[in-house]
Amino acid sequence: MSRLVVVSNRVPVPDKAGNPPAGGLAVALHAALKERGGIWMGWSGKSTGEAEPGPLSIMNNGAIQYALTDLTDRDVAEYYNGFANRVLWPICHCRIDLAEYARREMAGYFRVNRLFADRLVPLLRPDDVIWVHDYHLIPLAEELRRRGVQNRIGFFLHIPWPPADVFFSVPVYESILRGLASYDVVGFQTDYDVDNFAACLRREGSGDRIGGGRFRAYGRSFIAADFPIGMETAEFAELAEDAAHDRRIREMARSMQGRDLLIGVDRLDYSKGIPERIAAYEAFLKGNPEFQDKVVYLQVTPKSRSEVPEYAAMQENVASLAGRLNGSLGSLDWVPMRYINRSLRRPLLAGLYRMAKVGLVTPLRDGMNLVAKEFVAAQDPANPGVLVLSRFAGAARELDSALLINPHDAEGTGRAIARALSMPLAERKERWEHMMKRLLSHDVTHWCADYLSHLEPQRPTLVPEP
Ligand code: UDP
Ligand code: G6P
Repeated sequence: MSRLVVVSNRVPVPDKAGNPPAGGLAVALHAALKERGGIWMGWSGKSTGEAEPGPLSIMNNGAIQYALTDLTDRDVAEYYNGFANRVLWPICHCRIDLAEYARREMAGYFRVNRLFADRLVPLLRPDDVIWVHDYHLIPLAEELRRRGVQNRIGFFLHIPWPPADVFFSVPVYESILRGLASYDVVGFQTDYDVDNFAACLRREGSGDRIGGGRFRAYGRSFIAADFPIGMETAEFAELAEDAAHDRRIREMARSMQGRDLLIGVDRLDYSKGIPERIAAYEAFLKGNPEFQDKVVYLQVTPKSRSEVPEYAAMQENVASLAGRLNGSLGSLDWVPMRYINRSLRRPLLAGLYRMAKVGLVTPLRDGMNLVAKEFVAAQDPANPGVLVLSRFAGAARELDSALLINPHDAEGTGRAIARALSMPLAERKERWEHMMKRLLSHDVTHWCADYLSHLEPQRPTLVPEP
């Protein structure tokens, strides 16, 4: 079996005992790397403050080598905060209005991808299989090919791919498309994303599907298909069951005084629809006054990408919306919404999901949304809660037994919340069982193995064009 080389912007470095940080993707990729041996390369998360990025720092952990590079302040500003998070992220989430194009930042994005390629090449062996993750590193395969790398190289996009007209608003969109065509397998979260990608190539006249999940574009042939990411379903379900004994969960349950819990868990990101969710909760409380004082909505929202102005602005906005809601509807002994503006650890989250009667997952657009899956996996099979899920999350393609909503429709979402809270046990069980079956059969291990089986050398997907 050939070695696996994973490249991603963030690298979940293991603790001193060699265990990877919690989280499905980190655990699954760590397991695949451990089995095959290999390298995980990426940004250290640090900037040097110098004019040059500094040497690669290498850590060995059994059969796995972690190779981390610092970046300069300028790299972080242009590549990460700039082009990746102020152009590609908003564009892929259909927010042209929030995209800020700056030539300098675009150049910085391609420069850092060249740096990654320069540093990776000396570490590679001829039969390594390379798997690149997410929008920060789209040009990496093209840069590696330029340096003579002939290995199998796969890419997986964790975020959505937008419709062609939205994507074409990126001034360097053609370089991005050509970059994707340099991979052997391009994985997306859903078939909608694949269709949007196909439409981009077609409209440009630069390529199209040639059947069997294969595409031909820019003189190369490759696979582009959907590989919806899974989670570590069985392990997470166990974690949630165990959490019932956690002191903090018992204290939280006591503090609810018999009220029902609704839960939302999202990074502080405009794609997650948090203000729209607060508006929907308000519409629900106003339209169904019998539920006032009977429910509490807990929103867990770690800060994210705070150096990007659009994210910094959200900080104030969400805090003031939560305050306003509580000020107008709360009473002496009832706070309708609890807001936690920091990260909680997975065991605690698992227990909170299980305690909740309703999971509110209402992004305006999301590649997958693992929180939706985690909420389902954490439920008590004998008395499961109900998932209220945006139809614009990738997860909605699989979790179609959730109550699917349009997050832009506050009243409609409010009605779905009321329906979820009143849903009979038999219907809750039937919906939950359907979703849980899917999550168990398509967990993150299945996802990883399925993707890699398409990338393995025995599948000749790289067909040089005449
Ligand atoms: N998460 C966490 N602690 C928190 C909030 C979120 O561990 O306080 C985790 C959550 O359990 C999930 C991930 O962060 O696994 C978020 O993934 P998702 O796909 O929902 O959204 P993303 O943040 O990747 O856009
Ligand atoms: C999304 C992206 C990931 C990213 C994560 C956290 O899940 O798909 O690539 O790592 O958000 O964002 P951050 O900017 O903190 O890495």
